[in-house]
Amino acid sequence: MKEKIDHIIEEIEKNLEFLQELGIDSIAKPDYNASGNSSQKQALISLEKEIKDCRECPLAQSRTKAVPGEGDIHTDLMFVGEGPGSEEDKQGRPFVGRAGKLLTRIIKAMTFDRRDVYITNVVKCRPPENRNPRNEEIQTCEKYLLKQIELISPKVIVTLGNVPTKYFLKESRGITALRGQFSSFHEIRIMPTFHPSYLVRNQGDKSLKKMVWQDMQKVMAVLGKK
Ligand code: URA
Ligand code: URA
Repeated sequence: MKEKIDHIIEEIEKNLEFLQELGIDSIAKPDYNASGNSSQKQALISLEKEIKDCRECPLAQSRTKAVPGEGDIHTDLMFVGEGPGSEEDKQGRPFVGRAGKLLTRIIKAMTFDRRDVYITNVVKCRPPENRNPRNEEIQTCEKYLLKQIELISPKVIVTLGNVPTKYFLKESRGITALRGQFSSFHEIRIMPTFHPSYLVRNQGDKSLKKMVWQDMQKVMAVLGKK
């Protein structure tokens, strides 16, 4: 037994020496989470890159950076907003401005971390003056969102505000009527809720936050978080 262990240790030492000779002086801990499904992860990474280079609609001309989205490919939970705002456009990351800070807090309250979920938008480039994205822009961009959904295959998508809710539900009723009730999009459950910037704009109205929290508790229940 001891001989066997000595041999294994000797083999490891040799391997480490070899790596050192190659100029490798530290070994990263394997990312077990990623290794299970790495071809899908690669596909998501190359999709994000493709989005960053996209010039297929007029929004590409006015944007600073395209904002593909970010998070964990293995998640059961996606958040879909409307489109990047000015801070997102500068940084190339979704929901990093004022509304984003609130969304991050909501996600924490759900006992997730931002990195555990996937966050993106219906359109990946900022509409000028934060106007709503136009139908043609949404149609040009939707292939990216649909591919993200296919690769991530979440159980639940939370739609933030009117634009993403309308996109998934093809409903004329607004967010106030639709929030808080699950619908479905293919096999995925859709939970519409208010947009965090609507909460920011209406700070005084505490009932809005409570409603969003009720909606998120329903999502947590579906995901076994309650
Ligand atoms: N509002 C959105 O809809 N999306 C963002 O990424 C930021 C603000
Ligand atoms: N309009 C929106 O687009 N979102 C809200 O959350 C409320 C009003």
